Amino acid sequence: MIKTRWYKDAVVYQIYPRSFCDSNGDGIGDLRGIISKLDYIKDLGVDAVWLSPIYKSPNDDNGYDISDYTDIMDEFGTLDDFKELLEGLHSRGIKLIMDLVANHTSDEHYWFRESKKSVDNPYRDYYIWRKGRGKDGKKPPNNWTSSFGGKAWEYDETTGEWYLHLFSRKQPDLNWENPKVRQEIADICNYWMDMGVDGFRCDVITYISKKSGLPDGKFNPIFCGSEQYVVGPRYHEFIKELNAASWSRYDSFTVGEAAGITISNAYECIDESVCELDTVFSFEHLCYADMYFLVIPHRLSLKKFKKILGSWQALPKTCQNTLFLENHDQPRSLGRFTGNYSGFRYEAATALAVAMQLQRGTPFVYQGQEIGMTNCKFADKDYQDIMFRQIMDIVKYIPFGKCLARYCFSRRARDHARTPMQWSAGENAGFSSGKPWMMVNPNYKFINANKDMSADKSIYKFYAKLHAYRKGNDVIIDGDYKDICPNSSDIFAYERKLGDKTVLVVVNFKNKAVKFKLPAEYVGRASQLQLSNYADAQERIADTKLRPYEASVYSVD
Ligand code: GLC
Ligand code: CA
Repeated sequence: MIKTRWYKDAVVYQIYPRSFCDSNGDGIGDLRGIISKLDYIKDLGVDAVWLSPIYKSPNDDNGYDISDYTDIMDEFGTLDDFKELLEGLHSRGIKLIMDLVANHTSDEHYWFRESKKSVDNPYRDYYIWRKGRGKDGKKPPNNWTSSFGGKAWEYDETTGEWYLHLFSRKQPDLNWENPKVRQEIADICNYWMDMGVDGFRCDVITYISKKSGLPDGKFNPIFCGSEQYVVGPRYHEFIKELNAASWSRYDSFTVGEAAGITISNAYECIDESVCELDTVFSFEHLCYADMYFLVIPHRLSLKKFKKILGSWQALPKTCQNTLFLENHDQPRSLGRFTGNYSGFRYEAATALAVAMQLQRGTPFVYQGQEIGMTNCKFADKDYQDIMFRQIMDIVKYIPFGKCLARYCFSRRARDHARTPMQWSAGENAGFSSGKPWMMVNPNYKFINANKDMSADKSIYKFYAKLHAYRKGNDVIIDGDYKDICPNSSDIFAYERKLGDKTVLVVVNFKNKAVKFKLPAEYVGRASQLQLSNYADAQERIADTKLRPYEASVYSVD
């Protein structure tokens, strides 16, 4: 199989099915809901859809806890619905990427139910079981913590041993040291790709190989132990093996969720020559957006943000980047990256789109981002995410713990991205005719797809235009990247260059007018406006005053 690497000229749209569109009024988004919106997706001009998990799951972590990898979650529909969805996408020229959650399963998966039964069960070694510490073995085997707070081990009475769970206790970690586990994962990938699926987004894939002996982590009250398993000792070996046993046999695209990957190990994870993942989501650029250590608030440092993105842009062309600001685990990008955009929602949302999407890489747009959806104001009872509940439960013992946590969640909760998609100003934002599983953001009356698409200044239409501009545009796909104002805290401006073609992208990140001085090397050269979020933008680039969130793209001769 020859890899066409189609993803290099693709924009991916992420759907969180639970919150996208409900077809049967039970308040939960489903596959038939997605089918009903295929033309909406097509007209946005995207090339692929990534579906967050749709497999059978008890939904402790909304599908990221899988109890059967080869069937569809009851609330979402059936395998026949899935095939219809796949066909509906393919017939519109859109590929489908599934979410591969392979670091852990649900504790309700058959493998785990067997594994628990006895120490000599054939599935015992599918998971990571250890005896406890202390005289009676009642202390966890090491000091690692779960990403959702609390310890990463659960004691099980049946055999008097502990199992590892880097996420919730209902998400036991698989033991990738066991070759049978690795074969199962390859078989699952092949099952879906034989059905026609085009690739995978690989959930927390960098956590699959744990240091042998599972040594204690360095002291860290939040993420203790991560240095013992992030890109662990056998990570590359496991991914190469999976690539050979499955992904490379299809014209596939794989993107790894890669918390902990930095520019220093990016090359060895994604260069084409290593035959592992095609690209990764790195989170380095999000860390400087709103809070240090997830707790201490601060404003976006545009300089740092640009520096990090620039370092990824400098990777060789055989390394593909991802370009994204949002997903189902992140707060909304408006506000987070724009500061107070009041009165300029259209300009701010489109400015972010331009700044991100014209870098080298594969852009990802998260549902609702294309209509400028925002964070939501929640009361405690409105949060649905297990992370909120688990952390609140822990901090209640700390003075002011709950207040502080509430403040952090008001900015950082994963729930912000998970409120139902706002389709119209009608009941429940047009998401469902029943009571939605999670609250609808009350701003749906004025932020919704219907309204946006019929407005003069439509964010959706701007995204569609931007996608059309990118499509087949070799300077954007392959050109070199150069930050032309690295020292500005207000302006994000860069050059893309391929052969004799040059494109300049100039974006004001502020809610006020900002002076832009054209660097000397461009002065006097002919230029032509290609795209702007201001209808009366200058036709030629020059020293100018950029208006709030003005974003313009010029070709330069
Ligand atoms: C990833 C997912 C997140 C999930 C976690 C555990 O980070 O994006 O939603 O909770 O993995 O599977
Ligand atoms: Ca439904």
